[in-house]
Amino acid sequence: MNINSRIRQRRLEAVLNYDDARAAAQKRLPKAIFDYVDGGAEDEVTLRRNTKGFRDLSFEPKGATWIEQPDLKTNILGLELSMPVLTAPCGGMRLVHPEGDLGIAAAAAQAGIAHVATSASGYTLEEIAATPGPQWFQAYRFSNQEAMRSLVHRAKAAGFEGLVATIDTSVSGNREKDFRNGFSYDMRINLSNALRMAPQMLRRPEWVYRYMRDGMPFQLPNTADLTVDGKPMELTEMIRTGKDSHSPSWEDIAWMRANWDGPLIVKGILGTADALTAARLGADGIIVSNHGGRQLDGAPASIAVLPQIAAAVGDTVTVLLDSGIRRGSDVLKALSLGAKAVLVGRLPAWGLAVNGQAGVSHILEITRAEMIRTMRLLGCPSVQQLDPSWLSGHILAGADAP
Ligand SMILES: Cc1cc2nc3c(=O)[nH]c(=O)nc-3n(C[C@H](O)[C@H](O)[C@H](O)COP(=O)(O)O)c2cc1C
Repeated sequence: MNINSRIRQRRLEAVLNYDDARAAAQKRLPKAIFDYVDGGAEDEVTLRRNTKGFRDLSFEPKGATWIEQPDLKTNILGLELSMPVLTAPCGGMRLVHPEGDLGIAAAAAQAGIAHVATSASGYTLEEIAATPGPQWFQAYRFSNQEAMRSLVHRAKAAGFEGLVATIDTSVSGNREKDFRNGFSYDMRINLSNALRMAPQMLRRPEWVYRYMRDGMPFQLPNTADLTVDGKPMELTEMIRTGKDSHSPSWEDIAWMRANWDGPLIVKGILGTADALTAARLGADGIIVSNHGGRQLDGAPASIAVLPQIAAAVGDTVTVLLDSGIRRGSDVLKALSLGAKAVLVGRLPAWGLAVNGQAGVSHILEITRAEMIRTMRLLGCPSVQQLDPSWLSGHILAGADAP
């Protein structure tokens, strides 16, 4: 092992949990990139609710029990998962580390779980699909129905097993840190932003070196051939101005159902009405999600609305959840309240920032170890047995408080 690998190994060994990974990532990323991943919309009320919602839940363990090998395995819409976790679709990951989505997808496959590929990636959807392991594809509308349809056709041809329609992004959330930092998916190094970004870039020479060696990926290649008013589309600008919805409409979802044979999953559900509409249109799954607190500030914590949504849809659709998962114990709380699996967004992103694919593997294995330990402490033999009886009075009252 050469000195560089040893340094990277040491760096990873020092990461024992989500907070450690986030702090290590903060030391490695320029401020604009760190804030882009970390931040939420407006006053970040929903962002804080997400983690508080989990913290306010207490377990009710069954003591005097020894579980030798807690069973974390599950099957989600045909995906055999070694634990009930998927890596969430996250745009901009190639700016975090050149391995980007390819590193996250490879680490997910290595962990025996599935990756959901974003359409807002620095890699083409075909490049991501070529990474081994099961994957779903997440489609945006990009203010352009034809563009969305073409992405769905390409995703089908590329072999993605499931299609995810994100419905909470009609326009981009108001992430003021990104405006202040001058963040753009289009991180072109021109004179004006080079001058503005110079102080933070100079403090992160390793990131700058890797970014330049990666050829300074300017564009989101899945949108590279799209035009708005005859001009090349600049995603950041377009989703802020909101000329047309960036998210698929219910009509688009009906179109997807008619044109996609595999599982169709609607992401960004926060109420029973939308959950029932998704089920009625033939969705196979829903993701109870507030986009990690990045879109509508003032939205509830997804864990707070999960029980009522799960009760409303029953077995008609598979219920997944994301937003605020930081620990293995959070995964078990979500499953106790009706989710069949969860997605994690920032958690793998911090691992990626610390050490590419190896960093993602490291944080995923921490999450698995936390789940195993918590299952033993609960006295619960299998994730299939989790239900509200594992939570103490399932107190949700605090989850909505800012
Ligand atoms: C940097 C970043 C980029 C994201 N980009 C997308 C995206 O392109 N499509 C999407 O459906 N969700 C996107 N999300 C939301 C995630 O899929 C997921 O809902 C959220 O991260 C879950 O919350 P968590 O970060 O607390 O785990 C993004 C999240 C982050 C942090």
